[in-house]
Amino acid sequence: MLFWRVKPLDQILATAERKSLKRQLGAFQLTMLGIGAIIGTGIFVLTAEAGQKAGPAMMLAFVIAAVVCALAALAYAELAAMVPVSGSAYTYTYGVLGEGLAWAVGWALVLEYAVAACAVSVGWSGYMNGLLISAGYPLPEFLRTGPMDGGSFNLLALLIALVVTFLLVIGTSKSAKVNAVLVLIKVAALTAFIIIAIPAVQDENFKPFFPTGWGSPLGGIGVLGAAASIFFAYVGFDAVSTAAEETKNPNRNIPIGLIASLGVCTIFYLLVGYGAVGSIGSQPMLDLNGVAFHPGSPQLAEACKGSDALVCSREPLAHVLRMLGFAKWGNAIGLAAALALPSVILMMIYGQTRIFFTMSRDGLLPGILSKVHPRFHTPYVVTIITGVFVAAFAALFPVGVLADISNSGTLFAFVMVSIAVMILRKQQPNRPRPFRTPMVWLVCPLAIAGCLLLFLNLSMYTLSLFFGWAVIGLVVYAFYGYRNSDLAPGRSPPTDTPQLEPAPKFHEGPDLGP
Ligand code: ALA
Repeated sequence: MLFWRVKPLDQILATAERKSLKRQLGAFQLTMLGIGAIIGTGIFVLTAEAGQKAGPAMMLAFVIAAVVCALAALAYAELAAMVPVSGSAYTYTYGVLGEGLAWAVGWALVLEYAVAACAVSVGWSGYMNGLLISAGYPLPEFLRTGPMDGGSFNLLALLIALVVTFLLVIGTSKSAKVNAVLVLIKVAALTAFIIIAIPAVQDENFKPFFPTGWGSPLGGIGVLGAAASIFFAYVGFDAVSTAAEETKNPNRNIPIGLIASLGVCTIFYLLVGYGAVGSIGSQPMLDLNGVAFHPGSPQLAEACKGSDALVCSREPLAHVLRMLGFAKWGNAIGLAAALALPSVILMMIYGQTRIFFTMSRDGLLPGILSKVHPRFHTPYVVTIITGVFVAAFAALFPVGVLADISNSGTLFAFVMVSIAVMILRKQQPNRPRPFRTPMVWLVCPLAIAGCLLLFLNLSMYTLSLFFGWAVIGLVVYAFYGYRNSDLAPGRSPPTDTPQLEPAPKFHEGPDLGP
């Protein structure tokens, strides 16, 4: 009963756009692709949130989140290579666990992609506001952040989300060359930060090392709470798994690409974290009872008024360098973030629209969403709807809250994917697998346990929103998707399935979405 309406994998492969792509990516290009997709708001902005949750012990949070991601990535890659079609975890689940769970995953992926786009837009606005202030053209304070963060309306976050949406409607995608340049800019900015900050490290700044302890389930504070938030800094590695079809010798190169990009990012993140914590300190702001305020709460915004603490900054890396007396370098890092982060927003909104597109093509969402623009060949209706929602939420919510909500959806999807990998190994052991998860019976259960651990260490507030969203999803499925699905009794898949122009691939301009 649980696995009702399973869409056979062969049917998925047959109805999806057929791509025959040249296998030309090697381990190095895959690693670049991964780094390009991973480094973003997480390290540039959420370092402050992680400090507020865990103090100097946030460095442990970076390691825990990296290990969970590496395990989930190995499971993800097996399905991505087997079913190389758009729709990502949603499609895999449809093919293995059936429509009900596929719907749940697709619905959760809205949190992963659309809400992540909101978070990165807010992160971008923090750096852009910092640059405008340094240049002597500050926006009025009430337009710099949303209401929970001490302002009224985050104007720049709204604008960047709308600009990126416009670019996606007219069919802009990120080319391999642009990706390489952006990776260089991000890596150069983080390297400069490390070179300047680490010599200024002082032992006293690491004391106390564990100001908030490990944290408790649903508490959203402590090292595990920080790991659950900083998980966001690693999301994006699925870009490597989804390039499986274009990869030479995927069984060797995919795991190398995944582990190398996660490994490189982890090393950078640890060095950046060490430099930030050690040079100016990262002790959390505490209330009168000595309990850390939740990041993104009005209470923290109030406590932070006039404070120079790292945990209060909206552009923490630039802030650290300015505090150390390197104002020009601080501005340069701000500029690097301002240049590089919009491509992460682009990838996230792109991913979201392709998931909605696939769900609409399967009959689970209204057909209008898969309408393709006659001239630009992009799913413009769903892109505009997604973009407007992303812009509105980005204008109103704090980055940490958005990142945590996004993580809840991603962690849920990763659990489902890991389960699907194991079921498929039993159900269809002989199906060709271009990439096989190594030690699958160890890696998948550990991935599930790791994702659940992080999930349960998100705050009660985040998980309530997650479950509230799930309930809305169930209602929509019961009243729309269940009846209109192509797999519902008496319905057959439409013959005029709308097709997008084949997504550009990495060698010409990559499909960095799911
Ligand atoms: N990992 C991406 C970021 O940190 C989502 O922005």
